[in-house]
Amino acid sequence: MITIHELRRKYIEFFTSKGHVEISGKSLIPENDPTVLFTTAGMHPLVPYLLGEAHPAGRRLTDYQKCIRTGDIEEVGDEAHLTFFEMLGNWSLGGYFKDESIAFSWEFLTSPKWLALDPAKISVTVFIGDDNTPRDEVSAAAWKRMGMPDDRIAWLGADDNWWKVGPTGPCGADTEIFYWVGEGLPPEGSNKGSDPKLWMEIWNNVFMEFNRVDEKTLVKLPAQNVDTGMGLERTVCILQGKKSVYDTEAFTPIIAALEKLSSKSYGAGDHELDRSFRIVADHVRTATFILGDPKAVLPSNTGSGYVLRRIIRRAVRHGRKLGIEGSFLSIPAEGVVESYAEPYPELVENRTRIVEELRREEDKFLETLKTGEHEFEKMLPNLLRNPQKIMSGRLAFKLYDTYGFPIELTEELASEGGLKVNREEFDEAYKKHQELSRAGSEQVFKGGLADHSEISTRYHTATHLLHKALRTVLGDHVAQRGSNITTERLRFDFSHPAPMAKEELAEVERIVNEQISRDLPITMAMMSLEEARASGAIALFGEKYEPVVKVYTIGDFSKEVCGGPHVANTGSLGKFRIQKEQSSSAGVRRIYGVLE
Ligand code: ALA
Repeated sequence: MITIHELRRKYIEFFTSKGHVEISGKSLIPENDPTVLFTTAGMHPLVPYLLGEAHPAGRRLTDYQKCIRTGDIEEVGDEAHLTFFEMLGNWSLGGYFKDESIAFSWEFLTSPKWLALDPAKISVTVFIGDDNTPRDEVSAAAWKRMGMPDDRIAWLGADDNWWKVGPTGPCGADTEIFYWVGEGLPPEGSNKGSDPKLWMEIWNNVFMEFNRVDEKTLVKLPAQNVDTGMGLERTVCILQGKKSVYDTEAFTPIIAALEKLSSKSYGAGDHELDRSFRIVADHVRTATFILGDPKAVLPSNTGSGYVLRRIIRRAVRHGRKLGIEGSFLSIPAEGVVESYAEPYPELVENRTRIVEELRREEDKFLETLKTGEHEFEKMLPNLLRNPQKIMSGRLAFKLYDTYGFPIELTEELASEGGLKVNREEFDEAYKKHQELSRAGSEQVFKGGLADHSEISTRYHTATHLLHKALRTVLGDHVAQRGSNITTERLRFDFSHPAPMAKEELAEVERIVNEQISRDLPITMAMMSLEEARASGAIALFGEKYEPVVKVYTIGDFSKEVCGGPHVANTGSLGKFRIQKEQSSSAGVRRIYGVLE
């Protein structure tokens, strides 16, 4: 039986045999992209190349990429939804298009030499067309040439068969591939359109020809690209003949650890209990990958740190439903580190951080729960005097707002005392609160990729100038430790042992502005990583680079290995100002800067 690790290698082997170059997957935390909190698809780190930048590794690429999607978090616990998953991808950047892409997918899925799946259990969807783009007859014809019967091809609209990375950015019609998960063979006429629940999506081939600039404007990209993504966990699930992704070895060791901790059995017929097992297993795997990432975020109250905090806390709550008391997540997390050590060595390198941060966050949350329970008990006698046996939503919200006590637990405690919480009133108060507190973090989503290409590119070039200016003023020990760009500012973390003096900050600012006023041209050259290093280009320590890299040179001032994109001349940046310099962690300083 093929394992998850074997499938990952097999996919890469297939596409390299078809002239694709294997590139390394990137961090889960996107750098220099203000539009998302996590990498959500294999194509994400490739957006600049889909928009037209040349990729140093060429036109045919393949990789495996860790992804996080929290949009479907409520569905986690069913057979197929996950917050963390791996996407196997292959790309054509202006090379082959629909015909070859579909033929590659079909060969990999059905050839006895590769996955040998039964063609009778495969169906597809293709784009039915709209005002902008015609019905995708080319893809349908390609499928028919593979032997796909007419009735296994479902023609669907943009909701199903138009893929986009965000409100703006590269997009196009896609064709999705499904596998039959019903009993026996699928009946004649069955496809995703007729029996949506019985077909599991395993692969999506996107034909990216357009860039959405704003709500109304779709422009043709410089080249026709292919972006495909195969779900690793789902595909291994069907190859192993399992009913659910949770029954594959991506999860069985985690669930076994949870069974031991809870002294309860998974799969013994209690649906709610199984769901909790699955939620804890999914969330602990996600949290392990976030904390094990070279660019890890830590639990916090904003942005991606807030998502991590929610995931950990939800895992703790469902752990309690399994009857597990005290902090426990580091135990299954260690299992995740072990089983993914080979494809993701960063988990092993960051094992201590994973374990310590999980424990710290769990302990904090357990403390919150204790306080909340205590406060609830104090309220109880008063509540019981209410003749309708209703606890006001306002009071439940107070428990949440003041002590961080989750509404689900308030409801649980209330129902033990024979009370019902006025959930509508709670939801109203909660919504108001969210609107206020989110106003800040929503800025993150403002703008989309059109802004990304304009404003972020300027901040990106400014980051290179800042990096070099810091090395000039403070010394060559300064090395980039992190970078994050929104449409409002840049943030740059770098190694330096002490707070910067006022004069040092002023000098760094002056140097950056001097280089801006010199209107230096920015040029790019491709070379091997060794050549790049030998030429004096700065490369980031610990970063995974391809054998051939791009080097961006800013006049005679700076030279860095980087994926781009950058502005053409520094003169377009405006005036640079350092807003703040502060500590980031031990030995690492953080600068916030703006272009005005
Ligand atoms: N980018 C496509 C997806 O994520 C392949 O489905």
